[in-house]
Amino acid sequence: MEQTYIMIKPDAVQRGLMGEIISRIEKRGLKIAAMRLGVMSEESAKEHYEEHVERPFFASLIEYVTSGPSVSLVVEGKNAIAIMRAVNGATNPVDALPGTIRGDFAVETGRNVVHASDSTESAQREIAIHFKDSEIVNYTKIDEVCLY
Ligand code: PPS
Repeated sequence: MEQTYIMIKPDAVQRGLMGEIISRIEKRGLKIAAMRLGVMSEESAKEHYEEHVERPFFASLIEYVTSGPSVSLVVEGKNAIAIMRAVNGATNPVDALPGTIRGDFAVETGRNVVHASDSTESAQREIAIHFKDSEIVNYTKIDEVCLY
């Protein structure tokens, strides 16, 4: 089973999209193993996006993700990393297909509603930035019992 880090970004919280996004994750069949609503600290945001520190949009990206409450999640399941990238849709909403979260709810990269880890290494790094081990819950969902 894989784990991935998901952020429901401040614009999505402001627009009342939290439930819609969480519902899509659950309905897809992935499990929420940790979840927290709060304003991300500048320190955590800079660590999270550290690989982009030299890019021209870095300052506005940090300002955006710390501008209000966001939701941090650990989402778990078979192929969770690739599945959540597909559920979110392309980073630039112009390229995001209808039916994806960004394809349905976003118009520009600077307000693209959600984040998902792009690799196993990123997922492990990002989960460790945003959650303590003790905040990640281990439980079995009823539909998992039937999986083979
Ligand atoms: S990718 O696919 O994640 O590698 O995309 P990339 O283009 O490298 O972008 C990395 C993250 O920076 C965000 N981004 C921006 N934010 C604000 N303004 C502009 N112009 C901008 N361009 C890119 C992009 O959404 C990626 O963050 P996440 O949270 O992964 O979406």
